[in-house]
Amino acid sequence: MPGTDTVTDTAQFAAALKSAQAKITAHAELRLGGEDRLHAAMRYAIVGGKMLRGFLVLESARLHGVAEAAALDAALAIECVHAYSLVHDDLPCMDDDDLRRGQPTIHRKWDEATAVLAGDSLQTVAFELLARPEVGPHAITLVATLAQAAGKDGMVSGQMLDIAAESADMPLTLDQITTLQERKTGCLFEWSAIAGALQAGDSPDALRAYARALGLAFQIADDILDVEGDAVKVGKALRKDADAGKATFVSLLGLDQAKAQAEALCDQACDALAPYGDDAETLKQAARFVISRDN
Ligand code: IPE
Ligand code: IPE
Ligand code: MG
Ligand code: MG
Ligand code: MG
Repeated sequence: MPGTDTVTDTAQFAAALKSAQAKITAHAELRLGGEDRLHAAMRYAIVGGKMLRGFLVLESARLHGVAEAAALDAALAIECVHAYSLVHDDLPCMDDDDLRRGQPTIHRKWDEATAVLAGDSLQTVAFELLARPEVGPHAITLVATLAQAAGKDGMVSGQMLDIAAESADMPLTLDQITTLQERKTGCLFEWSAIAGALQAGDSPDALRAYARALGLAFQIADDILDVEGDAVKVGKALRKDADAGKATFVSLLGLDQAKAQAEALCDQACDALAPYGDDAETLKQAARFVISRDN
């Protein structure tokens, strides 16, 4: 049974995440207004997610003294890139999923062309957001680093490795799976957690170390949920990785060792926050949430 501290931490974190979700959702309404199908599909792709990456942007901004009004465009930008990655990930030519966050995927609600185009415009609008004057003097650093994190050596590369692994002759090694997952999931998490430091012109080193461990822990949790999650709570089709012959930490290590690895990574993430002292309590709660979440 969880101790009182754990219960308090969980409740505090849930409130902090909910508050970030409300702010980012309101910001999406402001910046991505428009009544046509493309805008409707873009907003549909953004809302209803946990918004963990946007939350990390706001939290790292707070730790580095960046005003929230200046951080919201960056928080929305990463949620746009993340949403685009999911819209395309769900397409029939990729994971072929009908359900996301308990709702029909965009190509099921509208059609494939709308899903491709909504993904395209979510990606480009992210960079438009980062180029806004509110982002401040380090905007170009945010633009360049997000392009790297999302692109050919980052998330897209991870997705390519993921697809290639399905038809590989040999199962991937632990090192290969780690590289795949660092790119597929880790790169966007890393950018999210260091964004506030970059925006302030400060060193991102401690947050980078935190995020590297967090990103891996997050993907291990996703792989564990795929095996033993509750499909209603998770809101997407489960038990697909094994059927597709997907390389995951669970397929290689087994469930128990994958869980132990997620715990170890959570501790590693929290240790990396030492330079921030008590100010980093919410980020530590986020790490615990990531490995204990049920959706
Ligand atoms: C799902 O990410 C995709 C992975 C990288 C595993 P999230 O679980 O953060 O998705 P939402 O945005 O909260 O639905
Ligand atoms: C998706 O990974 C990661 C990205 C979109 C970059 P998954 O295919 O494992 O995500 P889910 O399980 O569909 O959310
Ligand atoms: Mg996928
Ligand atoms: Mg998928
Ligand atoms: Mg998955």
